[in-house]
Amino acid sequence: MTGTSAGVSIGDKTVELPTRSGTIGPDVIDIGTLYKNTGAFTYDPGFTSTASCESKITYIDGDEGVLLHRGYPIEQLAEHGDFLEVCYLLLYGELPTKAQKDDFDYRVTHHTMVHEQMSRFFTGFRRDAHPMAVMCGCVGALSAFYHDSTDITDPHQRMVASLRMIAKMPTIAAMAYKYHIGQPFVYPKNDLDYASNFLRMCFAVPCEDYVVNPVLSRAMDRIFILHADHEQNASTSTVRLAGSSGANPFACIAAGIACLWGPAHGGANEAALNMLAEIGSVERIPEYVAKAKDKNDPFRLMGFGHRVYKNYDPRARIMQKTTHEVLGELGIKDDPMLEVAMELERIALTDDYFIEKKLYPNIDFYSGITLKALGFPTTMFTVLFALARTVGWIAQWNEMIEDPEQRIGRPRQLYVGAPKRDYIPVSKR
Ligand code: CMC
Repeated sequence: MTGTSAGVSIGDKTVELPTRSGTIGPDVIDIGTLYKNTGAFTYDPGFTSTASCESKITYIDGDEGVLLHRGYPIEQLAEHGDFLEVCYLLLYGELPTKAQKDDFDYRVTHHTMVHEQMSRFFTGFRRDAHPMAVMCGCVGALSAFYHDSTDITDPHQRMVASLRMIAKMPTIAAMAYKYHIGQPFVYPKNDLDYASNFLRMCFAVPCEDYVVNPVLSRAMDRIFILHADHEQNASTSTVRLAGSSGANPFACIAAGIACLWGPAHGGANEAALNMLAEIGSVERIPEYVAKAKDKNDPFRLMGFGHRVYKNYDPRARIMQKTTHEVLGELGIKDDPMLEVAMELERIALTDDYFIEKKLYPNIDFYSGITLKALGFPTTMFTVLFALARTVGWIAQWNEMIEDPEQRIGRPRQLYVGAPKRDYIPVSKR
């Protein structure tokens, strides 16, 4: 279709719409002039056939199960890179040199503390508040503290805000966790790497030393890498849409966190683990598979299916390996949930319903088991997703601001409500 056009006829009007090609992936039909020339809108609820922007950051081939960040396959990044290297790649477009990496690590590490007054926000929340509720509030509140990095027209301020969020998100997430379980906050420690620092802020207590287990910290880092970015998903699109109005970056990321919380998106890892616990034993799997297939039952197998992947989610494969590494390191031999998960996966992959609908395990299927083994309660799972996805949101937000074609996002609608009618006084209704 490259260099060609797509003809659209509506009534007696015909327009030729140009097509555009990316470096890989499907071409797009540029419908920007459609309304002006025909008076018609396109209709695509859920955006199943609509590209909302041009992007150089992440590419997914859902049919082949491919995920690339700036061209690099996720498998290679997860195997050989670390999370901050992936952050640098997403933000700046290239892998860092050794000097660039050291400098980036240093800058992130030295921005991990949050303003001390922020700790008082936490005490305003009920102790039983969901940590995602706390995250929405506290991340949004960053804009009340860091005024010197909210001028989005200044590239330097944008980068300062970006680094601040990548650096402070683990601290805020760990504070949300500590508040949740009634333990004192633990300050960041600069001689630790990103993932180790986060584990220490979550699991250390003032009354004893905490030694970070390198296998667990590597697993945590890999989980962060696997969640770092995922193209124009719901929360990323939310961040872009919020940012398109010129809103400050902290507010935009808080909007992304709110969107991520839903069970169809980031909340699925929590829901998947709850589902595995509810199933409880291998014998009960057929009952739940039948429920998932029953059109009259709203139950879905959480951790299965994806809007874009119609093949095995490449992140799920790496996640499954990480799950085994963590359970092995912790000496957890017969985890009943892992047993249920592996059998459920086996059954689903051979069942006609799941094969026909191309429902494969997604990343959330195994991440819950790993996070639980690492010591996190289910309520923290989506928080960890938000922490890791922050860099993706920020990279996409920066790209949007720099895009000369960027305008405020303003979808149109197909109005199906009442046509114009006259007001009737209440005495006559
Ligand atoms: N279990 C049973 N049936 C399913 C499932 C599932 N998990 N997912 C989709 N289906 C069926 C669905 O009922 C529909 O059947 P039919 O064509 O007969 O009406 C068909 O498959 C297509 O589903 P859809 O809801 O139209 O597909 P979608 O692209 O709108 O939804 C999804 C994608 C991820 C929301 C959905 O697969 C789902 O709800 N999965 C469970 C939640 C989950 O694991 N989410 C995590 C996604 S990965 C992490 C992230 O990106 O946030």
